[in-house]
Amino acid sequence: MQKSFRAALATCCAVAAATLAHAQTDPTTEDFEKFRAVMEDANPAELWEVKGEQLWKTRRGPKNASLEQCDLGLGPGVVKGAYVQLPRYFADVGTVMDAERRIVHCMVTLQGFSFEEIAKRPFSSGNYTPDPVSIVTFVAAQSRDMKIAVPQSHPKERATWELGKAIFHYRAGPWDFSCATCHGEDGKRIRTQNLPNFTKHDQAPRSFIGWPGYRMTGGVMHSLQWRMNDCFRQQRFPEPGYASDTITALLTYMGVNSNGFVYKGPGIKR
Ligand code: HEC
Repeated sequence: MQKSFRAALATCCAVAAATLAHAQTDPTTEDFEKFRAVMEDANPAELWEVKGEQLWKTRRGPKNASLEQCDLGLGPGVVKGAYVQLPRYFADVGTVMDAERRIVHCMVTLQGFSFEEIAKRPFSSGNYTPDPVSIVTFVAAQSRDMKIAVPQSHPKERATWELGKAIFHYRAGPWDFSCATCHGEDGKRIRTQNLPNFTKHDQAPRSFIGWPGYRMTGGVMHSLQWRMNDCFRQQRFPEPGYASDTITALLTYMGVNSNGFVYKGPGIKR
């Protein structure tokens, strides 16, 4: 009797000690961060950068045109520095667009591709990478080491930020979750994953830095369009439309909150 009590006590205290140690050093996150630092020196994302550059420069589609006349906000064909200033307002469409949405817009208007076709299979899986994902990886890489500066000078850009903020805090669905339920408090985690608090200026860049990202789980390249879609799924919301206003609004909200931090280029995600 006494023996089993002692055993129980030992087990209890081992668990308590482990829990304490976990809370203090958080080995899972630490190990992963070390691994990521090593991986980033040889980030496989570069493969998609190269592929994206080819897609950007090659004449393709029903109109047999390249994307070299695509205006990402800094003038036709200007890629350097464009990514860190997106989403932004585009006068030609009278609305705010994020990077991938603008690239898709150029594929449709300049090259003659069909939006519906692109939107049918917009996310990477297995060996399949949709063209816009490769192209956005190339475009993002041309903003490496530049400061995030998502503009808010146009009234529609400010309205889009407000809309993004509202969507971020909008609770609904079977669990009555909003984005903020998981990403609006410090120190939240699901399983081994830390959940960044995007309402805080110091953590907001995790919605920008590292994306688009090579995901070690599955070995695929993903853009923020995918990340947003997957979080809506986790929230048990209906999936938003690909390249929709909803996504642009959320990316504007989190992008502006990340302003001033240095963008490191396409990254690595677990
Ligand atoms: C049920 C909890 C949950 C909800 C609700 C949720 N997310 Fe997430 N989110 C996650 C998890 C889990 C991850 C993955 C974290 C990781 O891989 O380290 C994540 C990752 C992210 C990331 C990438 C963070 C990074 O470090 O790269 C962004 C951006 C994001 N979520 C935005 C949103 C937005 C916007 C919403 C609302 C539409 C939302 N999330 C709703 C759980 C959630």
